[in-house]
Amino acid sequence: MQIIAHRGASGEYPENTLLAFKQALAQKADAIELDVFAVEGELIVIHDARLERTTNGKGSIYQYTLAELASIDAGRGQAIPTLWQVLQLIQNKCWLNIELKGANTLQPLLRLLDRAENELGFDLQTLLVSSFNHPLLAALKTAKPTVRIGALTASLPLHYAAFAAELNAEAVHCDAGFIDEKMVADAKKRGLKVYVYTVDNAEALQQMRTLGVDGVFSNYPAQSRQFLGL
Ligand code: G3P
Ligand code: MG
Repeated sequence: MQIIAHRGASGEYPENTLLAFKQALAQKADAIELDVFAVEGELIVIHDARLERTTNGKGSIYQYTLAELASIDAGRGQAIPTLWQVLQLIQNKCWLNIELKGANTLQPLLRLLDRAENELGFDLQTLLVSSFNHPLLAALKTAKPTVRIGALTASLPLHYAAFAAELNAEAVHCDAGFIDEKMVADAKKRGLKVYVYTVDNAEALQQMRTLGVDGVFSNYPAQSRQFLGL
């Protein structure tokens, strides 16, 4: 079972910052998950559209220019990174799950992926793009069919497999509270991977492994690996 660092090693370091991503790599996470919004056509890595919870800024990210956002403290002196900076840091060292938050992220992502492939030799196969916004994922798959898609859901709807198929997704990403043996078996039968968020405690990690899920999003990648004897 793979460990995906949720917003980086966000349990110990400021979430969605270069520091949290560096630590996720140091802690040998198999993958990093991060959240992106688009401002002035550039993807920035932050979970909320508002600044208050994770930074010393106030208000909506859209009230600010990119330059202004770059001067905001996202914790321990860390800036809000651009996705480009994160791609430069990761350099295919682990796989990456980009979660699209803003509805205006499609074109910026397409531009960035082209640039990353050309300038960094970024391997598209190391990327899985997810979103709660399924029409956005469908549009992405149409625009760039080689992008791998994860169908993200906060629940487990009856038609989960239908929307995964419609999106040509290779994985379903579900909240831990909705996962059971039957669902995992059904997903496997359909050739879908199952990634579960957010799982940090020893008992829940063992349970997910027993159920046969492919990976869990964890805020404490090193500790989760330790709990699993990895
Ligand atoms: O992608 C898994 C998880 O990150 C989805 O929820 O709110 O933490 O972005 P959230
Ligand atoms: Mg997320």
